Order: sequence, then structure tokens, then C-alpha cells
Amino acid sequence: MCNKVQSIYLVEYGRTFTLKRVTMEKRSELLYPQLLTKAYKSSSLLGMDVLKKIKHPDDEITPLLYCAWNHMSERFKNIVLSEDPIISITSKASKIAATDRGFIRSDIGQVIGILPDYEVYYGPTVGKIALRELVAEFWSTFYKLDHLTYENVAVTTGATEALFLLFSIFGYGRKVILMSPHWPTFPDTIRKAGSDYVRFELVDEDGVFRIDELESLIKSTHINVMLVNSPNNPSGIALERQNMEQLAELAERYNMIIISDEVYNRIRYRGEPDTMLRYAPDRTVVVTSASKEYLIPGLRVGFVISKSKTLTDVIIKKLLRCQSSCPNTAGQDVVMEIMKREVDELKGNKEPSFITPIVEELKNRRDAIADALTEVGFKVFGNRPPDGTIFTFAKIPETVDLGDREFIEKAMDLHLFSAIPGSACGKPGWLRFSFGNLSLEDINQLKDNLQKFLNIIGR
Ligand SMILES: Cc1ncc(COP(=O)(O)O)c(C=O)c1O
Repeated sequence: MCNKVQSIYLVEYGRTFTLKRVTMEKRSELLYPQLLTKAYKSSSLLGMDVLKKIKHPDDEITPLLYCAWNHMSERFKNIVLSEDPIISITSKASKIAATDRGFIRSDIGQVIGILPDYEVYYGPTVGKIALRELVAEFWSTFYKLDHLTYENVAVTTGATEALFLLFSIFGYGRKVILMSPHWPTFPDTIRKAGSDYVRFELVDEDGVFRIDELESLIKSTHINVMLVNSPNNPSGIALERQNMEQLAELAERYNMIIISDEVYNRIRYRGEPDTMLRYAPDRTVVVTSASKEYLIPGLRVGFVISKSKTLTDVIIKKLLRCQSSCPNTAGQDVVMEIMKREVDELKGNKEPSFITPIVEELKNRRDAIADALTEVGFKVFGNRPPDGTIFTFAKIPETVDLGDREFIEKAMDLHLFSAIPGSACGKPGWLRFSFGNLSLEDINQLKDNLQKFLNIIGR
């Protein structure tokens, strides 16, 4: 009796599903044959039956979870499945210690009680439960989502760590559609995760949402993982509700998974903060960050939010344990303080206010820089000032005969100004200007310096 044969599997070819009788070896080849890698071929095949054993009891096997497990390398699956007695013993011991004072805890691997003023302890692997609870409550209320619990949230070392993990899980050995123009760090993060990317301009430079072109790309490439970043770094464009609904429909039709980088959600000047979790809850995993939501990047606190508790509370927990052990505990305390205030405001039917005065000030700068760039002959991405973020993305005037890199290098050599060349964001000929650190006076000076530079290079 060989259990290697005659298993029935759902085989996925882009959008078509077929039930097939296949051997175990054949199974992995049938899944995404066009993107098959050596890693898959040599794998030991840990299928859905194994996932069922470790999945969180509250979870259904949603498309997100199905893809997380199917896309992940066997190496990662084995880490997720490996036994970690420390996790089970410390969690059991802390529960006993909470009720029995005579219980001696000798499981803790850190020095406690010698220099109490200076001690900072390890925290739980995916963040302090109190912080995860606050994030779950904030997101459920603010974005009007189905009730989330702390298990739907994983705290990470910034959004950067979260993104790397998600590309490792969903993109390993395959390609990710990368919404462009993009944050310059995405390509390397994707590649470091053993993934690759195809750039796609979801919103074009005139502000047109290109859903039909996205559909053609998905049809022709069969790539079903997409990284969406709204509000977008560097363009400042934020997807509108209707765009998000269309994206969700497409995701449903083509079995797509969306990694939604929403770190700039709260820095909005036009429209309201929104999330893909509202429109495609079973296909979206959100990444966000205190670096942008609360402007404290040095504290390194980021979040993964997903309807799948297995993803946040089982898979990511296991992978983070052997990566960074836990996110910055002092940073989490600061975020908790801010979030407690915001959650209280929401409970009192008030708007969360921490970032409001900052965004008001930033809005003045955003208007000033968009005007300044337009006045000196640049085209602003989307033909409108940015909807969010702290960036304006602008096209070098056609009359200038310099590449974006050369343009910035020369301007810096003359000590006039700096900016990030668009080629680093997948869009040559454009420049990303940050106004996060510029006063209105600085922006005026930037305008003068730009004008001076254009005169010097004789355009
Ligand atoms: C679009 C985007 N995602 C993620 C990050 C990383 O954020 P974090 O500081 O939380 O790692 C940045 C940082 O600039 C960003 O612009």
C-alpha cells in the first residue's frame, strides 16, 4: 500500500481549478508549474493536512492561509512545525506564577532583580499582548472591521522586518507584482526573501487607476501575489475606495493575495485613511508601522495585521523567534502610551488626535512644495499634490538633458539641494522630494535653488 499515490488535489492554474488524481511527487509540480523552482522540486511536501494540525482553532483555511502555506518553502514550514519547548514552558509557567506565589520559576533565561533601574527584559515574540490588544481594538473600531483580537496582530521590528517575512512566506521562489513607483528598499527586501518582482504602475503619472492593465498582467504572467502601497512612497497617491473595491474583485477572480503596505495611512491630506482589509479580508495581509503612524521610526515597532490568526500568531511567531527574538520592548511601551489615548478617544466617539496637528502642518508644506515644483516647470505625479505621505514625486522638465541621478549629483555638487532619483523608485526621469523635514522657508529656498540650478544647466 503506497500512500504516495492516488491523492486527490485541487490544482491551481492561474484562475482555473481542477480536481486531479496525482502522486505526491507530482503534486508540487502541478502547483504553479510555470514558476517551479529547484527548492520546490527537492522539497519534502508538507501539505494542507499538516497545516490543519497547527492552524489556530478560530481560523478557516482562507485563500490567504492556503497561499501562505502553499507558497512557503519547506525550510520555513519545518521551522514553523519544529517544537519549541521554551514557548510552551514559559507560557505555562507564567500562568502558574500568576496564581501561585510558592511556584519557583527557573525557566527564565535572563538576569532579573540585580540592577532593577536598568533592566529591560525580553518580551513576547510577536509583541506584548496589551499592545496587540490595543492595535486590534484600534483597527476594528477606526476602520470598522470585523472584530479583531490580539491574535490577529503581530508586532515586528519595524515594517521592514514584517515585509521581509511576508515576501519570504508568500513570494519565495516566485514573483511579486510590485506597485510602482516604489519605496527604493522594496526590490532588495524582495530579493533577500528569495523572491523576485515585476514592476507595475497601478496608478499612472496622470493619476489614472490601471485595473484593466493589471488584469492583463495577471492573465499573462499568472503571478498572484501583489504588493500594494497606499498612500504610496514616493508618489503620495492614495487608492480611493472604488479602486480598493475593484482590486478586491480582481483578487477574488484571479485568486490573488495582497500584501498591503499601509504605513502612511494616517498621513492623509485628501480622503480618509482606509485599508484593503475592509475589501478583501480573506486575501489581504496588512503591514503598518509606528514609524509613520506615530512618527517614531527609531523605536522600531511595526505591525502585521491579518484575519488569519494562524499567520500572525503561529507562523510569524515561529519565524520571528529565530530571527529577532522579540521587537523592542521599550518602543512598544511608548506606542502603548500613545495608542491608549487614541483608543480612549475612539471610545468617546472622538477622532484619534495624536497625529492631527502634525498632519495639518505637513499639509501646508505639501501644498507649498507642490506649487513650488510646478512653478519651476516640474510635473507632479498624478497632476495633483500628494494625497498622503511626506513625499512629492515630480518629473524633471522635458527641456533638461540630464538623467535623474546626474541631475541630483550636479545639484549636490553645487550645494543647492538633494532629492532621491526616481530611478531608485523604478521611475527614471523623476525625483522624490521629501517635505517631512522642510519648513515653509526651506521650501521657498528650495524653489529658488531649483530655479538657479535650471538656469546654470541652461535648460
Ligand atoms: C512604504 C514604506 N514601507 C515600509 C517602510 C519601513 O518602515 P519601518 O520604519 O517601520 O521599518 C518605509 C520607510 O520609509 C516605507 O516608506
